[in-house]
Amino acid sequence: MGEYKIQLTVNDKKIIATAKAEESLLKFLRRNGFTEVKCGCEKGDCGTCTVIMNGKTIKSCISLAMQANGKEILTAKGLEKIEIGRKLQKSFVQHGAVQCGFCTAGMLMVAKGYIDKNPEPDKAEIRKAISGNLCRCTGYKKIVEAIYDVAAENHRLEGDINV
Ligand code: FES
Ligand code: FES
Repeated sequence: MGEYKIQLTVNDKKIIATAKAEESLLKFLRRNGFTEVKCGCEKGDCGTCTVIMNGKTIKSCISLAMQANGKEILTAKGLEKIEIGRKLQKSFVQHGAVQCGFCTAGMLMVAKGYIDKNPEPDKAEIRKAISGNLCRCTGYKKIVEAIYDVAAENHRLEGDINV
């Protein structure tokens, strides 16, 4: 199969590069230096490769690089530039929700994508939102609490502004 030139934005950086027709977005991103996007099962089962494309959370191993042509991608590194991203990173550390860290980038992306859609989730909703992402270390409780605290703090701040 052939190679095609694609253009996309990754964490506000414009990228023009060639992609093979059958190349996954995961492989394309890692080949172009975005190694913060982790490679796990490559079957859509573990969620460690999760990124946000045009505001939608996707598993990059089961998406084609070609599908990202003209799109905006956010990876875990891009979270540093976003307030909610920094809060999530801090909260994961504070709650001990990072152990081996292999799932963390994907978990952070899912958390960011979910809080954007549902700014006031309860813990059951968060558990459901991260159910497509596997973690072998934490038992999920600390991850759920880390995400919940960020959402709850945001909600409190919004309440203060609206007073
Ligand atoms: S590497 Fe993509 S879901 Fe596992
Ligand atoms: S912290 Fe090790 S897999 Fe989640």
